[in-house]
Amino acid sequence: MDHTYHPSLQLLEPVAQDTLSNSHSTRFQPLLHRLLTSFCEEQVIPAMTVEDVRRVVYLSRFHDIGKQSLPRSILQKSGKLMLEERRILQQHPALGVRLLRSIPALRQYPYYDVLCDICLHHHERWDGGGYPDGLTGRHITPYVHVVALADAYDALRTARPYKPPLSHSEAVSMLCGGACGAFSPEMITCLQALPEGFFAAYYGEARKVG
Ligand SMILES: [Fe+2]
Repeated sequence: MDHTYHPSLQLLEPVAQDTLSNSHSTRFQPLLHRLLTSFCEEQVIPAMTVEDVRRVVYLSRFHDIGKQSLPRSILQKSGKLMLEERRILQQHPALGVRLLRSIPALRQYPYYDVLCDICLHHHERWDGGGYPDGLTGRHITPYVHVVALADAYDALRTARPYKPPLSHSEAVSMLCGGACGAFSPEMITCLQALPEGFFAAYYGEARKVG
């Protein structure tokens, strides 16, 4: 029996589709798969089976479902968010878990806790500067932290209303500089060591700068 899927997750699929950008659908998940596999091989995160990796990648589709409850005016805003708008945006992990908890049948799903953890903690940061719980370092589930890193990398590489897509080296430099918050230093080192071709498979060749 395949324990990855659950009928209630199929019901949430339109919400997942609605809250994932095209980039997320086509790039984020395969990228996440490669990062999880590489980080396991390099022992940056505890070992995961092939099925564990597949399951986390699949469940990561639902990490932003809480955005469904947020005003489009905030989600699609092209300019910088005001303080209050940022506060509202930062509610989406908790709103996502509230949505999951509103589906009683889902509580029987064997990986319900994994799903809730991904949904609630994909914006936590290594130094405690993330949200909603301000978790630090090893208090963040390792594979959830990889979801967060892949999410941040993908956001940097993707065009948004307020910015152009960055090249691989620009994105890595931003991540190293803490522009997206602090990540595990070991993960960042491992990410930096990966050949650029690893990422080009998903994001194309590096854009020439200058
Ligand atoms: Fe998010």
